[in-house]
Amino acid sequence: MASPRPRIWVSQPLFDDIVDQLAAHCDVDAVREVTVHAPEAVAAALREADGALVTLNERIGAAELAQAPKLRAVANVGVGYNNLDIAALDAAGVIATNTPDVLTETTADLGFALLMAAARRITESERWLREGRWRQWSFSTMLGADVHGSTLGILGMGRIGQAIARRGHHGFGMEVLYHNRSRLPEDVERGVGASYVEFDALLARSDHLVLVLPYSKDSHHIIDAAALARMKPTATLVNIARGGLVDELALADALAGGRLAAAGLDVYEGEPEVRPELLALRNVVLTPHIGSASLATRRAMVQLAVDNLLAALGLGDNAGRPANPVTAKKATGAITGAGKAATGKR
Ligand code: DGY
Repeated sequence: MASPRPRIWVSQPLFDDIVDQLAAHCDVDAVREVTVHAPEAVAAALREADGALVTLNERIGAAELAQAPKLRAVANVGVGYNNLDIAALDAAGVIATNTPDVLTETTADLGFALLMAAARRITESERWLREGRWRQWSFSTMLGADVHGSTLGILGMGRIGQAIARRGHHGFGMEVLYHNRSRLPEDVERGVGASYVEFDALLARSDHLVLVLPYSKDSHHIIDAAALARMKPTATLVNIARGGLVDELALADALAGGRLAAAGLDVYEGEPEVRPELLALRNVVLTPHIGSASLATRRAMVQLAVDNLLAALGLGDNAGRPANPVTAKKATGAITGAGKAATGKR
C-alpha cells in the first residue's frame, strides 16, 4: 500500500509559485493571509502535520511539539532560528533547518544602509525638511559623523559580519575591528580586512558598532547600560540581528541623554511592538525587520526552505540530505552528530 502523502503546514503567505512545489509530493495547508498565530494556533496547526514551513514569527517549543506526534521536519524561512527550541526539537526527533548564505549580502547591505542613515542623520533630515524647516538652516544643521575612514566595529563575525567588514574595509577605507566567540583564521581576517579585539576594546574603539551575532540566552542584552557607557558618545549603534541583544530602555536613555550619538535598528525585543521611548527619539533610524527584504533574496530564502523541507522529509532530488540542518537530527531516520548550538553562525 502506498504511504500517505505528508501533510505540510505553511504558516504565512510566501511566494505561491515556490510553495506550490511542495504539492508535487505533499498535501499542503498554506495560510493565505498574513496572520499573527497565537501559540495554541501553532500547536493546533501542527497537530496533523508531518512538516512545517515557518517564519521567525512562529515559535515552536516543547509545548507545541507535545501536541504534534507526526511532525518530522520544520523548515525555518530565515537564518536566525531563535523562534525554534532546538533542544526540544532534538528531543522530539524533529529535523529543523534554516536559510543561511542566500541572505548574507542583502542583509549586509541593510546594515550598511542603517549605519549610513544613522551616522549621517538621513531620516532625521528628511523629517526636518518635510516639516518645512529648511528656512532655519544654518551651517551646523544636521552635522553627523563620517563613515569613510572611521573605525567600524562588528560584534559577531559569521557570514553577515564578514560581508559588512568587506564593505567597510574595501568600500569605505574603514579600520575594521571585530569580536566573536572564536577568532577567524588569519587569511579570512586578511581577506575581509578585519582585526580581532576583545569585547571591551570593541566597545571603546568603534565609531560605528554593528551587531550581527545570533541571539541566545548568553547574548541577551549584551549591549546593556554598562556596555553603552563604554562606547564613545559620538558613536553609532546598529542592530540587524535580534532585538533581545540590546537593552532598549538603556539605549533610549543613552540616545536621549547624549551619551550615544545615534542608532539604527531593524529588530526589536517585542517586535512588532516598538518601545515608545525609541519612537520618540529623532536620533534613531527604525526599520521593520527588513534585513533580507529584497525580492530576489526573499524568493531565494523560500526556495531554500522548500528544498530543505522536502529533503528533510526524504522527498525530492536531495531526499535525506537537507542542506541546512540546525538540529542534531539531519535527515529522516539518521542521527549524524552534534547539532549546532542556538548560537550558530548567522
Ligand atoms: C533572519 O533570516 O534571521 C532574518 O532576521 C529574517 O529576515
